Amino acid sequence: MSLPDAFKDELRARVPLSDVIGKRMKLTRAGHEYKGCCPFHKEKTPSFTVNDQKGFYHCFGCGAHGDSIGFLMNHDNMSFMDAVEQLASLAGMQVPKSSPADEQRYKQQSRLYDLMELAAKHYEQQLHAKENKKILQYLVERGLSLDIIKSFRLGYAPDAEAEDLKKALTKAGFKADDLTAAGLFKDSSRKQGDVYAFFRNRIIFPVTDIQGRTVAFGGRVLPPSHGGPADKSAPKYINSPETPIFHKGRGLYGLSRARKALGDGKVAVVVEGYMDVIALAQAGFKAPVAPLGTALTEEQIETLWKAMPEGKRTPILCFDGDAAGQRAARRAMERVLPLLKPDHSVKFAFLPQEHDPDSLIKAEGRPAMERVLKNTISLFDMIWQDTARGRDMTQPEVKAGFRAALEKHARNIADLSVQKFFVNEIKQRIDSLFLTEKPSPARRGNKAFHKGKPLDIDTPYRPHGLKVPPVKSRKNRQRDRVCVLLGLMINYPALYAEFGENLGMIPVADAEHDALRQALFRLLDTQNNLDYQAVKQHLREQGHGETLESILNGTLHPLKPGQALDIARQAWQDVWDIGFRDAKTA
Ligand code: UTP
Ligand code: MN
Repeated sequence: MSLPDAFKDELRARVPLSDVIGKRMKLTRAGHEYKGCCPFHKEKTPSFTVNDQKGFYHCFGCGAHGDSIGFLMNHDNMSFMDAVEQLASLAGMQVPKSSPADEQRYKQQSRLYDLMELAAKHYEQQLHAKENKKILQYLVERGLSLDIIKSFRLGYAPDAEAEDLKKALTKAGFKADDLTAAGLFKDSSRKQGDVYAFFRNRIIFPVTDIQGRTVAFGGRVLPPSHGGPADKSAPKYINSPETPIFHKGRGLYGLSRARKALGDGKVAVVVEGYMDVIALAQAGFKAPVAPLGTALTEEQIETLWKAMPEGKRTPILCFDGDAAGQRAARRAMERVLPLLKPDHSVKFAFLPQEHDPDSLIKAEGRPAMERVLKNTISLFDMIWQDTARGRDMTQPEVKAGFRAALEKHARNIADLSVQKFFVNEIKQRIDSLFLTEKPSPARRGNKAFHKGKPLDIDTPYRPHGLKVPPVKSRKNRQRDRVCVLLGLMINYPALYAEFGENLGMIPVADAEHDALRQALFRLLDTQNNLDYQAVKQHLREQGHGETLESILNGTLHPLKPGQALDIARQAWQDVWDIGFRDAKTA
């Protein structure tokens, strides 16, 4: 909705900008302006200025610039109209009626909000109606408590009674046009002027905007056991179409509930599905959100950053542990890169192969999900690992290509300061991996060196500033590599079948490491299909707890659990090739 300039000028004149901003951050007077530390980027010395005469703020550090309306929109995440209304009420002014078309749109939007609220209530009542007990039972069987069902306002759109919704909405004064504009009904192709319900015989997930107003619904099909269709052709979920109040790429499921926690600095956990958000909330996670049936958009990432306070702007993006999850993670990574700003980033977490967050929590409880969220991969590491995948780093031209590909990613970062640090970090890491092993006289003639050093993609990213890590003695490096191999086999017991024999052959100088190796072998020899938790448990019980900790959390911690086995296998191969391919066996 556009407003006359005269109105905006008057608004600016009546509410001093420094009042609006001064309520939200510390400002100090500096001549005819005010100064403070910019709320839009991290800084220690103030470069944010507020000029009441001009009615504008400006940051000389990050270029943030705008008037009071813009400030409220950016800082408080308000919509344009909400910002205007808030300022107008402070100024004691009436928001003018603007063009008839604007007016019309504004009116329609508020009608649609009311309509959606009524529909949400209706669906909710249906879910809790006696005759639909079986539907509610489905949700309960999936592990949802009544509290959480109510808190998310889950509902049910019946098949036969769909007409009821139309009746209820019509009775409340809504016209057929409203019903279709809201996306709840479709024009019938059979009978002119007739409409039919979009959601039929589905569980209803109300989608709210950031202020908590219902703007859309997701509808899940029921399984045949609970009255769903026998044939599998129906889509599992259908979602409201785009409407004047709903834009798929903008909102996030769960955002209005999470908003407070996000503001308090709780980390945003971005998952894929409605049920995942609900399961996480029920398990006590404070800020789970999900996109709405599409991949995460730029707008959604920006929205999350805005909802999180300075210094905390790193949501965790969760993906499935399979190849599709890796692909989705790559797309998200590519989408985030151009948007990066100082202290604005994302992290990646991968679920075990067979699970989504909902099923993981149901199967293994909250601690399992906590582990997933602890084992995150930084954005930089994600780029590194993803770019390294499938490259044969023993070849110099491949290394050059690898570096070029990394730098290409870095150049997609629009913020020049962040870009510079990325390029720098790439250089540092490449140098320390490929170039630190200078051929010493003792090593000249060493075949492994001349064959080139394969990339250790398993080495976790450790920011090391401008220091190049000290070159370790050969003995220490071997010790580290033994740790990495032991750790890999603990985290991925399935590697045993393929590499157990190799690991058994190499000399292990440290007695504790050797003892742990023996215990590990005894275990894996006798039991198949153990997961890493069972293996760790066993080793602890055998008295190797401390050694285990030092291996898993030492300086060179091995690939954490939860990655695809192929990645673990590659990591193993890389470490093996660097350290032991030509080693004398024990
Ligand atoms: P999933 O297929 O992973 O479903 O889709 P889910 O969330 O695990 O659901 P449950 O546990 O089987 O009930 C993830 C998300 O993708 C969107 C929905 O937003 C869903 O929550 N989706 C999925 C659709 O929009 N349409 C579909 O047909 C399937
Ligand atoms: Mn699921």
